[in-house]
Amino acid sequence: MNLVELTDDEFTRFRDLIYRTSGIRLAENKRVLVSNRIRRRLRATGIDSYARYFEFLRSPAGREEMQPFLDVVTTNETYFFRDDAHYRWLADVYIPGAIADAAARKRPRSLRFWSAACSTGEEPYSIALKLAAHRKEMTGWRLEVVGTDLSASALTAARAAVYDERALHRVGAEDRRAYFDATPPGKWTLKPEVRSLVTLRNHNLLSPLLGEPFDCIFLKNVLIYFDAASKKKVVDVVLAAMARGGHLVTGPTEGIYGMLGALEKLKPWLYRKGG
Ligand SMILES: C[S@@+](CC[C@H](N)C(=O)[O-])C[C@H]1O[C@@H](n2cnc3c(N)ncnc32)[C@H](O)[C@@H]1O
Repeated sequence: MNLVELTDDEFTRFRDLIYRTSGIRLAENKRVLVSNRIRRRLRATGIDSYARYFEFLRSPAGREEMQPFLDVVTTNETYFFRDDAHYRWLADVYIPGAIADAAARKRPRSLRFWSAACSTGEEPYSIALKLAAHRKEMTGWRLEVVGTDLSASALTAARAAVYDERALHRVGAEDRRAYFDATPPGKWTLKPEVRSLVTLRNHNLLSPLLGEPFDCIFLKNVLIYFDAASKKKVVDVVLAAMARGGHLVTGPTEGIYGMLGALEKLKPWLYRKGG
């Protein structure tokens, strides 16, 4: 197979398909990147042209190829405790505040988090590590961190919960000793007591997430490639999933500030739903 790059026409067709299914609007300068990534799926499926692969994807026989296709076109970069300020707020303000409010009977002894677009699990597990540090004061609490992502392969890695040094560069020695096993060689495996706080699910942010509302939602480093219309759809999904009085933590590049008028702004990256 001697394939170079997608032609203009092919790039436009794939770009539209990616946009319609995920909300991601790929820029023109991503053509080489997208070509390289799609080529991996051509090799895996044994299809010898981009055009034939596109036809296959759109055909009933290719329905199951959509997930591996989305797996290769999404960018899953993440690491533990990304954005220090967010995790300091969580550990020093939010969780202690919830414990104090529950002691004063102002809230139930329950906390539900949603890590929306959780990639390979570092984000929901970072939240779980902060909860684990408060475990003694939270005995008897109902604690749950739901991590969701569009990419099935990212979720498979999240379920394995085995990380390298790069993913853990912000995790201190004490947390590593307490919450990780230093296996296999050169890697760190998260202990079951932290993993058990996290539930992982395949979910597209363009669709509603059904179930109980969340007290705190992390929506970070995912909407950078979404256009305004898709961002708005995601914001509506997130607002619908937030409990009254719930908090939203956003990333530095989400570009949704103007869409969060219904929420109270506490910090440039932190919002609260009234009630
Ligand atoms: C760069 S990672 C961010 C991970 C983590 N939130 C963080 O801040 O480190 C972006 C993730 O968004 C996911 N994603 C992209 N579009 C999505 C969509 N429409 N629904 C759900 N997840 C999506 C990708 O699969 C990828 O794992």
